Amino acid sequence: MRWWLHRLAAAAAFLAAALALRSPAPLRFASGGRFKVALFADLHYGENAWTDWGPAQDAASDHVMATVLDADKPDFVVYLGDLVTANNVPIPNATLYWDRAISHSRRRGVPWSTVFGNHDDMPFEWPPEWFSPAGIPPVHCLSAAAMQTSGCSFRGTPRIELMKTELNRDGADGLSRSSVGPQELWPGVSNYVLQVLSHEKQQDPALLMYFLDSGGGSYPEVISSAQVRWFGNQSQSLNPDGRIPELIFWHIPSTAYVKVAPKSKTEICKPCVGSLNEEDVAPQEAEWGVMDALAKRSSVKAIFVGHNHGLDWCCPYEKLWLCFARHTGHGGYGDWPRGARIVEIAEKPFSVHSWIRMENGSTHSHITLS
Ligand SMILES: *[C@@H]1O[C@H](CO)[C@@H](O)[C@H](O)[C@H]1NC(C)=O
Ligand SMILES: *[C@@H]1O[C@H](CO)[C@@H](O)[C@H](O)[C@H]1NC(C)=O
Ligand SMILES: *[C@@H]1O[C@H](CO)[C@@H](O)[C@H](O)[C@H]1NC(C)=O
Repeated sequence: MRWWLHRLAAAAAFLAAALALRSPAPLRFASGGRFKVALFADLHYGENAWTDWGPAQDAASDHVMATVLDADKPDFVVYLGDLVTANNVPIPNATLYWDRAISHSRRRGVPWSTVFGNHDDMPFEWPPEWFSPAGIPPVHCLSAAAMQTSGCSFRGTPRIELMKTELNRDGADGLSRSSVGPQELWPGVSNYVLQVLSHEKQQDPALLMYFLDSGGGSYPEVISSAQVRWFGNQSQSLNPDGRIPELIFWHIPSTAYVKVAPKSKTEICKPCVGSLNEEDVAPQEAEWGVMDALAKRSSVKAIFVGHNHGLDWCCPYEKLWLCFARHTGHGGYGDWPRGARIVEIAEKPFSVHSWIRMENGSTHSHITLS
């Protein structure tokens, strides 16, 4: 190579590094010292695209998010997993459904972050009725030629591809605050921390939000001990004295949720607060220490999960709260009315209030979590 080619390569590498380091505007408590977060859980876009009901329920999910965003005007949105029912998406367009989910925040200029649920990268499941005399419906990839070449036995869109597609469009200068977490935590991808800066003291973080990939889909439903060590490292370096309050977000409830759950189909009594108690908790497959790591930090105030569409309660566990979000999408099982959990954090004095906003605009299950 000539010397100028070396120069050019070095300049290109420098530029690439600079671009990779460019980070989006920090999150900050608004004037009035509040930071309001809307949780959109279990949207389940992309079911049965070859029928009438599939696209119709996706349109209904659009409506829920639009209603909540316009009613609550949150400062931030957390997409709490299962944005897509990938096991029902026969052609490789899961990234388009993913984008449709986040487009509601983008259009309103609201920053967001995403975590993975167990359905987001699930391999396609062939509907048994496609093998009946009625045959395979006209899904355009399923021509004989396409089956030969691009392969319609679709394997699901990998987590890393979903996340990179999101970040290519909305990372850096955009509104996405998601991250591809450290590579040593793969196959888990959505592992990262966000700081929300103080309104008064411009440089000081006043809240930390941790996002963890609770697995499922292409690998077991679990938070690994490597993730627990990562959490320990992060919390130790960002918040060694536990002065900054911390909130935690992932998709699949840990086994601790089973311990505190009110018996299913019974009334939800204090100290738990909620309106839906229609099923048993469907927990992760193992507990590798994340709950101990969280419970021993008095700075951790609450954990928020989705996954169980028939549950929307918060219950205390040791010194923190375990909360379900609320089934937001019209996709996925269950006919319970749709809504979203709202979490409003005040900086000074610090407090966390939460409630559920329904699709029809009403609210219920108000609770103080800190
Ligand atoms: C994905 O593909 C299906 C099947 O061709 C199609 O009906 C659907 O509209 C596509 N989704 C998006 C978001 O483009
Ligand atoms: C945590 O920190 C230790 C010591 O600094 C380091 O050796 C280890 O790789 C880190 N682990 C993770 C998962 O970040
Ligand atoms: C809204 O929906 C809830 C059920 O989720 C129902 O209890 C309430 O009466 C409805 N409110 C209005 C104003 O329609």
